[in-house]
Amino acid sequence: MWEQKYRNNMSSRIVVEKNEWDRVYKDLENEVIKTSTYDDCIIQLIGDVKNKRILDYGGGPGVIAKALKDLGANVDIYDNNERILKMANNRLSSKNIMPDKNNIPQNTYDFALCNLVVCIVEDDEVVDITKDIYNALHKEGSAFVGFCNPKIYNVHESKLDIRHSGNINYEENHEYLKEKKEGGYIVPEKHRPLEWYSKIFEEAGFLIKEISFTPEYVFKEKAINDFVIYTLKK
Ligand SMILES: C[S@@+](CC[C@H](N)C(=O)[O-])C[C@H]1O[C@@H](n2cnc3c(N)ncnc32)[C@H](O)[C@@H]1O
Repeated sequence: MWEQKYRNNMSSRIVVEKNEWDRVYKDLENEVIKTSTYDDCIIQLIGDVKNKRILDYGGGPGVIAKALKDLGANVDIYDNNERILKMANNRLSSKNIMPDKNNIPQNTYDFALCNLVVCIVEDDEVVDITKDIYNALHKEGSAFVGFCNPKIYNVHESKLDIRHSGNINYEENHEYLKEKKEGGYIVPEKHRPLEWYSKIFEEAGFLIKEISFTPEYVFKEKAINDFVIYTLKK
């Protein structure tokens, strides 16, 4: 109820619903704080990517994919939004862009990335995405799955976001609305505890090698790590 009221009040702002991410393509392309907070961190975590085959699942405008390509990786990108992929072809050549997930090569990639996707999709989609990533990796491959840190779901404001999370327990899967300061649009965010994600990743066959967080900073007297990144071994 409160959420519907909030959505109505926000009618002058873009609320990015499922499959609508092309509406904020320019905003995603022009993010500065997110790039320095998240992209730089995950690129460092992956390490040497020269000549590695990488799948970026839900890669959006291809900003991270392009950064990895510039470091010498061979990057393919898949996204379920065809419109966004069409626009991403100024960064990657069309042979590296996959609009159909049935064409993702199996048992192939050294690394698979899934950045800020699982926290915006339904529970069963997280399961499907995890399986797709698992199947795409070769037997020594690793996945890096990063998403908004659920531990700060009830911190009202960070450098990046303003959250309207209601009064719901950390342990309960639920949705809340998040305002992106970069772009000014609203995202319905799926909150799930880390334990929920760990179980899904392990059930897909992954070994959880590391759970890391983007660097902590203090904002309005609260210590904040905006994102969590799982390193998963096939
Ligand atoms: C917040 S954007 C993140 C883009 C990019 N990964 C990044 O970190 O800059 C989320 C992206 O996930 C894509 N997406 C959402 N659900 C998806 C799904 N089920 N399969 C593949 N891509 C999905 C959206 O189209 C969008 O491009």
